[in-house]
Amino acid sequence: AKELQGAVTIIVLGASGDLAKKKTYPALFGLYRNGFLPENVHIVGYARTKMDHEEYLKRVTQYIKVGVDQDKLEEFKAIASYVSGQYDDDASYQNLDKFIQESETQRGIPSGRKNRVFYMALPPSVFIPVAKGLKRNVYAKEGSNRLVVEKPFGMDSESSNHLARELGALFTENEVSHWKRCAQEKLLLNCCSEIFSKIYRIDHYLGKEMVKNVMNLRFANVLFGHAWDRTYVDNVQITFKEPFGTEGRGGYFDEFGIIRDVIQNHLLQVLTLIAMERPISTDSEAIRDEKVKVLKCIQPIAIQDTLLGQYVGADGKPGYLEDETLKNKDSLTPTFAAVVCRINNERWEGVPFILKAGKALNEAKVEVRLQFHHVAGNLYGGSARNELVIRIQPNEAVYMKFNNKQPGLSYQTIQTDLDLSYHSRYAELSIPDAYESLILDVLRNDHSNFVRDDELDRAWKIFTPLLHKIDAHDSDVHIKPYAYGSRGPKELEDFVKKYGYHRDTKA
Ligand code: BG6
Repeated sequence: AKELQGAVTIIVLGASGDLAKKKTYPALFGLYRNGFLPENVHIVGYARTKMDHEEYLKRVTQYIKVGVDQDKLEEFKAIASYVSGQYDDDASYQNLDKFIQESETQRGIPSGRKNRVFYMALPPSVFIPVAKGLKRNVYAKEGSNRLVVEKPFGMDSESSNHLARELGALFTENEVSHWKRCAQEKLLLNCCSEIFSKIYRIDHYLGKEMVKNVMNLRFANVLFGHAWDRTYVDNVQITFKEPFGTEGRGGYFDEFGIIRDVIQNHLLQVLTLIAMERPISTDSEAIRDEKVKVLKCIQPIAIQDTLLGQYVGADGKPGYLEDETLKNKDSLTPTFAAVVCRINNERWEGVPFILKAGKALNEAKVEVRLQFHHVAGNLYGGSARNELVIRIQPNEAVYMKFNNKQPGLSYQTIQTDLDLSYHSRYAELSIPDAYESLILDVLRNDHSNFVRDDELDRAWKIFTPLLHKIDAHDSDVHIKPYAYGSRGPKELEDFVKKYGYHRDTKA
């Protein structure tokens, strides 16, 4: 599996933080274990905390599931180092640069191939100073530079554009044509002597197996290709449900709320893949061009097209306002939201896209559900509609609700499932973690599953007016209570019905 060659130093900034421990290092180990990191790789953790090598290794490997791979873990530890330093201090960065240069010399990396990936596992307050410090002091002068950054990308259009401008001045967005050629030929890090810098904005939902599958499903099946529009589809729901509250993250969450936390990014990304037109190729810019086009057709969401909620304690579980990490005990931040996007183009006019997400609900589930129109003049009476469901997690699956004659002597029509469940169909395969997939894309120089600056700008335009109303506690904003562990506010059923969803499952 050593398809990647060349040399790279991966610098994890914020190496002692939660994101690095829980996601970045386990993903790097997963890639290493399966032979997907370049042969000449060095991982350098950087953070403010002063700690020795042993302590660093203990911290960053605590969430790694090892199983039978103990030897691999020992090998992995041998390619990991730590440097401590400040986030706003040139001398600290110069020290980091010196450390990397010494390692590059020891590893015998020739000039032109001294590639660096900067993975910012950091809070947004330091994104800009860190990117500036890196550019001034640690930027590879004899290889490529890739900056990886993860949400939150601002709080609204204005703050996000500010961040985009600042980062864009340091790390470029667009492909350089011969880099594209290198990526196509999978020459990756080995190819050229010029200096490049690129930015990769992570939305980890784009690394999930079933999200990556949406394009294949749509564009490699003649059946779906033709039924995928307003003529056949009645309504679309994209649902995110978590069975736990904000426990321990109240401080962060209260500032953002559920719309900024998962809807404006993760669910909207899924929507764009479901709704976009067929790109002219699988080239990353061709894909992202189509995603931007569909975002441009979505009007800002009206407060009348939303249902907002906040969970209250039930069955011994604390309500949102009882969360110990929450500072504002009168908070009106929504922990549940259902919002309706309307896409004004030829394909989708009149088809509501309902995005709903909530914390502290009755189950863990993320899915896309396309509900088709009822059969006109149905010979068999009844009203059960076809539905195509893409279950993103847990238990990845694609299934279709369809109508079938009840087997046997009966002539009754019943609704049943055509079911492609991954755990039974692909039992021998283990599905990679989203972060593994995305880090590999960074190394392969493939931008398809990362958020482009104009895409981000459009995504914020859709939500900013609504968010400002919610933040200002406008008189039109009503936050409905729902019990911890329930399906959401009691108004939800009527809400989805209003936008065309039929629950009837009898044919
Ligand atoms: C994060 C949100 O972006 O996504 C969290 O900040 C949420 O609040 C998480 O829990 C969900 O990710 P996943 O991969 O567990 O579905």
